Amino acid sequence: MDALATYLEQHRDEHLAALVDVLRIPSVSAQPAHAADVRRCAEHLASHLREIGLSHAEVVDTPGHPVVYAEWLGAPGAPTMLLYGHYDVQPPEPLELWRTPPFEPTLRDGKICARGACDDKGQVFMHVSAMRAHFAVSGRLPVNVKLVIEGEEEVGSEHLEGFLRVWKERLAADVIVVSDTGMLGPDQPSLCYALRGLCYAEIEVTGPARDLHSGEFGGAVANPALALAHVLDALKDADGRITVPGFYDAVRPLPAAERSALAALPFDEAGFIRESGAPEAVGETGYSTMERVSARPTLDVNGMWSGYTGPGAKTVLPSVAAAKVSMRLVPDQRPEAVYAAFEKHVRSLAPRGVAVKVSYHHGADPFLTEPSHPAMQAAIRALARSWSKPPALIREGGSIPVMATFQKVLGLPSILMGFGLHDDQVHAPNEKFSLTSFHGGTTSCAYLYEELARG
Ligand code: BES
Ligand code: MN
Ligand code: MN
Repeated sequence: MDALATYLEQHRDEHLAALVDVLRIPSVSAQPAHAADVRRCAEHLASHLREIGLSHAEVVDTPGHPVVYAEWLGAPGAPTMLLYGHYDVQPPEPLELWRTPPFEPTLRDGKICARGACDDKGQVFMHVSAMRAHFAVSGRLPVNVKLVIEGEEEVGSEHLEGFLRVWKERLAADVIVVSDTGMLGPDQPSLCYALRGLCYAEIEVTGPARDLHSGEFGGAVANPALALAHVLDALKDADGRITVPGFYDAVRPLPAAERSALAALPFDEAGFIRESGAPEAVGETGYSTMERVSARPTLDVNGMWSGYTGPGAKTVLPSVAAAKVSMRLVPDQRPEAVYAAFEKHVRSLAPRGVAVKVSYHHGADPFLTEPSHPAMQAAIRALARSWSKPPALIREGGSIPVMATFQKVLGLPSILMGFGLHDDQVHAPNEKFSLTSFHGGTTSCAYLYEELARG
């Protein structure tokens, strides 16, 4: 073992304790009641970064939640890495399904359980620990670092682009590093070269002006819940293809070589479907499960409501029915263009007797990088050193809105080196992060800085 690995091994408890401290802060960006906690989390992070040896750390206000910016620039001549992550977390609800409270971190079966354990505080703190290791072993870092840890990722990163444009000069760097994705399996390190984008919309169908007695009026006027069901059902055909005209126009076809590479990944498909709890895999005809969850666009209903849903029966003809619909996008789809086509199609599907309103929530561009760039090669070497096997090159189905913005505004190569597992229950009750991922990921981050310095 080298000095870095030895130091990290000997200081595991201390580094885990630092993660536990930040996991106690309920930095839920979506809920206004937690705005002060979000800020407290930013302040805590900034002062922790100063304590571990960064030369500068500050909390930068935005029109929304603050950004934490920190730097250490003591390696003249060496490359500069811009580390991005997020300290905000998803709402913990439904609370009754948590085995232990979401903001009282608990160790169970070699995993740290808390909201944000994996997404993304645990992964940000792998880097914090990796920097501590370098400072302890050699008093310096192998590369210059600039950190941008934001507080609005889980709500669409609305104000980050403005921050990036204003801070552009100060953020000058050679490479972007992000740990906010997953690995194929607990001992299969992975590097991600593509993320899907997002287009999030809402449909509201209104029939009668108020709820009606279904015996008195039923049969005479349209039912908005049935009308909504009709619209939603028509959005996909029997082959699982999305029916919105023009939806696939900008989709870049998957090259044959990439399809074979994806097919050759050590992906435990049966285990993945088992983990979902669904009875079987179902999706677009002609594509594998791996392609369906990472390289193909999707359309899903995230929530829908109408009429009476309480106990027992109520004979009512509802006035309103609504649904939240999200579409995951792939290169070169754009959320604005997809939304325009979606809205037009939904309107055209509306049956008689109802009014349909469509609205846009937020979107993210898809992201794709060239896996052959030198920074990616450095990450491949770092992962091979720490996990004793080469990483798998994967595409991920989730979205990190800022990745496309980084490409557009700063024009830099990006490394997505993440350590989440499919059973980490991110965004769900009982989120956790395996200590194998946390400690293995920390060593990988420490090695990554060395490999980036090697060029
Ligand atoms: N860390 C995730 C993104 C992710 C998830 C990457 C799974 C790879 C695999 C991130 O925090 C996230 O949840 N993003 C949101 C973005 C949305 C709120 C704009 C997502 O993907 O739903
Ligand atoms: Mn995340
Ligand atoms: Mn998330």
